[in-house]
Amino acid sequence: MAGKNKSEISVQALARLMNAAAKAREGAVAPYSKFRVGAALLTSAGEIVTGANVESASYGLTCCAERVALFNALTGGKRNFIAVAVVARAERGPMPCGACRQLLAEYASAAKVYVADSRRLKVVKQYSVGELLPGAFLDFRPG
Ligand code: THU
Repeated sequence: MAGKNKSEISVQALARLMNAAAKAREGAVAPYSKFRVGAALLTSAGEIVTGANVESASYGLTCCAERVALFNALTGGKRNFIAVAVVARAERGPMPCGACRQLLAEYASAAKVYVADSRRLKVVKQYSVGELLPGAFLDFRPG
């Protein structure tokens, strides 16, 4: 449960973040799958940056909510992410895909990942990025 130890955000901050992800989900552009996802990142300074999934007729160009939020935050100069919330209509909460796990490992490795069904925002599952992508590829040495 949130708020029980120092590495976790407060119950209030978590509620605010889950609500931000749910609100962001309203902006999803998912005409093909109809699976709307919202994501919200929280920085150590208390700022929230959101995103939602955007799909393409060329399906592979689709971008997940987590990456839209992350790209939005990074290109806005934000760093030091401590949490990310992901919300969709999914019984056990929407689990980030492999591509998003890679980007989270690169740019938000310290963030806790909170997922919830959009119908039950208070039922939250929590993961570390390391749990979601053990042994991430992070080391790029040219030559
Ligand atoms: N999707 C996300 O936005 N985040 C996830 O964690 C899983 C999948 C999107 C991509 C696509 O638009 C739709 O959900 C169905 O795969």
